[in-house]
Amino acid sequence: DKGGHKHFMGKEIAEQPRVIGEAIRAYMPDGDTIALPDGGFDFTAVDRLTLVACGTAYYACLTAKYWFEQLARLPVEVDVASEFRYREPPIPARTAALFVSQSGETADTLAALRYCEGKASSILAVVNVAESSIARESDLVLPIHAGVEVGVASTKAFTCQLTVLLILALEAARQRGEISPERLADVLSQLRNLPAVIGNALDTDAFAAHVSNELAEAQDVLFLGRGLMFPIAMEGALKMKEISYIHAEAYASGELKHGPIALIDSHVPVVVMAPRDALYDKTVSNMQEVMARGGKVLLISDSAGIEQAGEVWRSITLPRIDPLLTPILYALPAQLLAYHTAIAKGTDVDQPRNLAKSVTVE
Ligand code: M6R
Repeated sequence: DKGGHKHFMGKEIAEQPRVIGEAIRAYMPDGDTIALPDGGFDFTAVDRLTLVACGTAYYACLTAKYWFEQLARLPVEVDVASEFRYREPPIPARTAALFVSQSGETADTLAALRYCEGKASSILAVVNVAESSIARESDLVLPIHAGVEVGVASTKAFTCQLTVLLILALEAARQRGEISPERLADVLSQLRNLPAVIGNALDTDAFAAHVSNELAEAQDVLFLGRGLMFPIAMEGALKMKEISYIHAEAYASGELKHGPIALIDSHVPVVVMAPRDALYDKTVSNMQEVMARGGKVLLISDSAGIEQAGEVWRSITLPRIDPLLTPILYALPAQLLAYHTAIAKGTDVDQPRNLAKSVTVE
């Protein structure tokens, strides 16, 4: 049942305020303290985390690396499961291995998990399907509460993965004494408000549809972001490739001048994700380098960021929120741009060619 939407993907994008709210309530049942399922996890008993996943879930892991490192001062390694499993990396003592998977059945992720059995001090799973193989073989299952996701392109599972991973990083920071009670209370209260903020971001839908008619003409689209926005840029590029079949790549904006800037001309739209945070000025200076070479910039930022940037080709304005929460919010326009570009191109949004919802073979 598409609930009145044309596609499951559209329905699942629209469900995000509700399901993110459900994830938050599940991990904060009393409204202001974190309670992990099944007795929780002792983050003081580990010195490092290894995060492993595929596809969109891998980008959730890359985002979580910033959170765990910045908030909890816990070193994090992130790997795609297909590389991790055959590289056979050493797993030092006091390492927790955490696997992220919507389906819980992805063959490479499951094999990576099995490789860690008996090596990692504990195995955690952030999954949507709580009865899945990955969940069954883990010491602690952390459900994301997204509900059934039908669209091959993952949307609500991604933002729910991010929500749960942020809560885990905050809990790790609390246990390890790396966050003040005041700051923690402040972030948690903003997190409770996030579903409403995400609801506002869905108001950019009409504009995303409009600009996507223009993106649909492009051969290539680049996505740029720095810090927490880099993995979201990668997710935006993956969504664009998957459902619109337009070649899209993401770069850390600081990497631009190390090569990719050679691609820029007036035919290449460049989506720049830059909330007005501590890294904003750096990203905007990369954006100006793109514009100086004729690149068409679509800037996604908050109103202060859009204003300070001056004239760009197109812009999408999002509400201003704490920089820590921006990945969850900025995922929405990334999804909407891909969704509407695919509609403009007339591709099969829910069942893109060559792709399966769950990759259970290598
Ligand atoms: O079920 P999983 O989360 O383990 O799936 C991982 C990837 O196959 C999945 O995220 C894939 O990249 C999606 N099609 C992305 O939209």
